[in-house]
Amino acid sequence: MHTYRVDLRSDTVTKPSPTMRKAMAEAEVGDDWYGDDPTVNRLQDRAAEVTGKEAALYVPTGTMANQIGVRLHVSGSGHLVVATAGAHVATTEVMTSAVLSGIAYRVGDPGPKGWMTAELARSLLEPDTYYDVEVVDLLAVENTVGAAGGTVMPIDELRAVRKVASQAGVPVHLDGARIFNASVASGVAVAEFCAEVDTMMFCVSKGLGAPIGSLVCGPAELIREARRLKILFGGAWRQAGIMAAAGLVALEEGPKRLHEDHERARRLAEGVAEVAPGSVDPREVETNMVYVDTGVPGLDALQAIERLAQEGVGATLVSGKVRMVTHVDISDDDVDTAIAAWRAVVGAH
Ligand SMILES: Cc1ncc(COP(=O)(O)O)c(C=O)c1O
Repeated sequence: MHTYRVDLRSDTVTKPSPTMRKAMAEAEVGDDWYGDDPTVNRLQDRAAEVTGKEAALYVPTGTMANQIGVRLHVSGSGHLVVATAGAHVATTEVMTSAVLSGIAYRVGDPGPKGWMTAELARSLLEPDTYYDVEVVDLLAVENTVGAAGGTVMPIDELRAVRKVASQAGVPVHLDGARIFNASVASGVAVAEFCAEVDTMMFCVSKGLGAPIGSLVCGPAELIREARRLKILFGGAWRQAGIMAAAGLVALEEGPKRLHEDHERARRLAEGVAEVAPGSVDPREVETNMVYVDTGVPGLDALQAIERLAQEGVGATLVSGKVRMVTHVDISDDDVDTAIAAWRAVVGAH
């Protein structure tokens, strides 16, 4: 185990704030299997309100939230979900979908921005009239797009995708793990994005800063079935109000400060671009993620990550690049430390 002075591996590494700790200690709890936990219920109500959906369900992880979300729409084993090739559901979660729900994915490459386009949606939803074998039950989109560097899928594109899906009679699920980052960066309300999809999920455990938890949101009738699936998947987590209390603080306080993460990510990218010109374009940093192409200064990405770790800076390998993510526990000084670490790593090469 590494200990980092500056941990930029992900926005999931944050520690609960003192306000969260206090809320957790004082949380009113009950048995969530029975729907008896008042704090969980409050978080669910608040999530439904913020997303503009009828109901919401609190689950332990983003993966479980997505897996419940996609399963809700799939009517048969071996049926397809369409998504972009880099989507979390179609990559990291592809085996989970296969094992839990017999789902396979049909994917396509949307280009460098990473988001689903109307054009790609149209080609992916082309009916299999000749063989009459492939059945598509769902179209999944992601916002922000993690593997493409935290890019924001514009609301106009989402509307166009939605129209294509509606014409094909296929519902839309949004992996909005970082939808609040998308909202802050674009100035478009979370509920506006959510209005264009049938179901969606978001994580309180990422940029919003809670230690655990995600919410699946959608029509009341579907969320009722989602609750059944949550129990089926082993997610009835009893006195979960202890965690939901932190989630409520995250949902209230988190969005107000996400712009700081975005500004720091941009400054980090500018610093790295100065140290290793051409390895990252700061103008492409839209939210809290910075992807560095270490091939440009002639460094192996994994070795660069190891060298950064020796300098006390945590980063990860995603899409063949070194990824750094800013979050609530990263200060301006931490950004300076990370840039200095890159200078040492590139300078020593
Ligand atoms: C876009 C996206 N969706 C879903 C998830 C899954 O969330 P969790 O790690 O809580 O299962 C992640 C996790 O990093 C993610 O980046």
